[in-house]
Amino acid sequence: MPAAKDTLNRASGVEKHLTPVLHDLIALAVNAKQAHWHVRGANFMGVHEFLDEVVAHANDAADEVAERVVALGLPVDGRIGTVAKRTSNPEMSPGFQQSKITVAEVVAQLDATLDTVKAAVKSLDDIDLVSQDIVIAIAQQLDKDRWFLFSHYAE
Ligand SMILES: [Fe+2]
Repeated sequence: MPAAKDTLNRASGVEKHLTPVLHDLIALAVNAKQAHWHVRGANFMGVHEFLDEVVAHANDAADEVAERVVALGLPVDGRIGTVAKRTSNPEMSPGFQQSKITVAEVVAQLDATLDTVKAAVKSLDDIDLVSQDIVIAIAQQLDKDRWFLFSHYAE
């Protein structure tokens, strides 16, 4: 049954490359919420409110990625313990932070996640174009979110 084997190979390739993306997106959603709660200082309201948009985009993207893997017949592991062990996103500072620090730390979250997403875009080129299309759309949204935050301190 070569067709069934092809389908299984495609599913396992997609699962392999989308799983790191899922873990970083879940970590991004959790950490951007932490930032939303603890930002203080300059541009408070704008940064506070925009961080909730980053959370919403990360949660929507995580859902798309997880459901693509599940649609191909494989499970995902989005448990918080697994995410904490596997994410490439850096640790955030605890407690209240001035907005300049908060914004820089969330840009670092976005950069780490974008590296993972863009690696998946490349790898999925030979495996599954539908999955690649999903991560391309996610990269576009994260690039835009990064621009909105980076512009707070860019020269
Ligand atoms: Fe809130």
